[in-house]
Amino acid sequence: HSVIKKICCIGAGYGGPTCSVIASKNPDVEVTIVDLSERRIQAWQSDDLPIHEPDLLEVVQSARDAIIEGRKPNLFFSTNIDQAIKEADCIFVSVNTPTKTIGRGQGRQSEMSYVEAAIRKIAEVAEDDKIIVEKSTVPVRTAERMREILAANCRPGVSFEILSNPEFLAEGTAIKNLLTPDRIIIGSLNTAAGLSAAESLVDIYATWVPRNRIITMNLWSSELAKLAANCILAQRISSINALSAICEVTGADIAEVSYACGLDSRIGPKMLGASVGFGGSCLKKDILSLAYIAESLHLPQVADYWRSINDINEYQKDRFSRRIVECLHHSLTNKRIAILGFAFKKDTGDVRESAAISIVNDLVSEGGSIAIYDPKAPDENIWYELESISPDIKRLHERVTIFRSAHEACVGAHAVVIVTEWDEFSNKTKAKPLPAVDATTPPRTPLATVAPQENYIESKETKPVAGKVDWAYVATVMRKPMYIFDGRNVIDEVKLEEMGFRVEGIGKAGTVRAS
Ligand code: UDX
Repeated sequence: HSVIKKICCIGAGYGGPTCSVIASKNPDVEVTIVDLSERRIQAWQSDDLPIHEPDLLEVVQSARDAIIEGRKPNLFFSTNIDQAIKEADCIFVSVNTPTKTIGRGQGRQSEMSYVEAAIRKIAEVAEDDKIIVEKSTVPVRTAERMREILAANCRPGVSFEILSNPEFLAEGTAIKNLLTPDRIIIGSLNTAAGLSAAESLVDIYATWVPRNRIITMNLWSSELAKLAANCILAQRISSINALSAICEVTGADIAEVSYACGLDSRIGPKMLGASVGFGGSCLKKDILSLAYIAESLHLPQVADYWRSINDINEYQKDRFSRRIVECLHHSLTNKRIAILGFAFKKDTGDVRESAAISIVNDLVSEGGSIAIYDPKAPDENIWYELESISPDIKRLHERVTIFRSAHEACVGAHAVVIVTEWDEFSNKTKAKPLPAVDATTPPRTPLATVAPQENYIESKETKPVAGKVDWAYVATVMRKPMYIFDGRNVIDEVKLEEMGFRVEGIGKAGTVRAS
């Protein structure tokens, strides 16, 4: 099989971390990451990267700046897409495949226009044979459509081999996942050319991944495996969340149920944490996509099965909002609710599909005043998401304020709602408390403008590193009775109830139950 010497990655999003690791582990391979966005490419060329992931900068610098002696730079970022395609022998397609927002299949089917544009570009400019690698999460049999487009548009005599090599990294742990992956999946056609291309890509990963973790398989299996893995992960969370509703009315404790189930080695303990609902850019989208595929294949029962996982997730978010309203005597008029955490999980500023979005909108609809605090999520992204589903944007801005600290957000609150499991909200471990804030500190003025979507991910705002929430201080500034709705079970309720709080956790018997 041929040896890959030059890689081009189309799309400087999460293709960035992947290709940076590939470059850092393969000093003899030249890796160029290209994107249409000048701003994004400039950010990758600087030390202020457009993606925040622990250890990412060190990996990028090791290949891009070749700070280690004897090493030549082999990681490049460019907007010259044509040139990078022309020179590469292997091209990673790592562009967005969001859910379609218009036309047939909108709200369900994956939007493939970015993938298609990348493929058309490759067909147009490629002058010699290329290996094309699907990195984006795509519907099963996408490679077949790519092949058709390539065959119809390429120069005579140029041939392409398409591989599927899905990316399994999770946000916040990207570098760790890339350096020590559970598995690398490479799918190819079962032809001599297909198998040979797969072997060429195996060589790239084998420089740091143990050979027995690099699995080659049929192209369609590999495409489907990525969707399947995310849907199974989501299914575990929806299963535990569905059980949490039973716990809340029976006195069983979901943490104990989850622990008991997770000890079964066939089940295992991961992705069994009950929560206010899963969020993020992948799980919901991939379930929608898989269900749509099933429907297109005339498998309605299969589509319904997968869709029910999203339904339970919506139910879980809705149940949580209703529980808050019921505990607060069915009215939020003149009441202030502090929302602690807006990101879809801790250690990321990403707010896409976060449970916080619908919860805040629900509470605003009930007439509450909402005080949000998140240590990392940029304000403009919070507003963007809230506005996207708000029935009344004027009222949203009148009712919602974003604060710079948890303590400020809690001043005068009738209830505190924990939506993201940030360590600083938990009272389960010992840490130095934050100094108390002056209760008269004026709130920050909400931003009135909607962030344009293309600025979404890149938008960055540095926020001060926060300390632990001092719940004894919070008790002095909240209104009584002091409710905490713990959407992540990060609170040791026994300790806080001793301080006079009423803690309502997910999957735990509390004061009032929403059915
Ligand atoms: C996911 C997959 O884990 C990853 O393999 C894939 O490549 C991309 O999609 P990510 O979306 O970054 O990664 O986050 P993940 O850690 O899977 O969490 C998704 C959501 O589920 C978060 O909102 C998280 O808080 C929630 N979650 C996770 C739970 O509610 N309970 C759990 O036990 C675990």
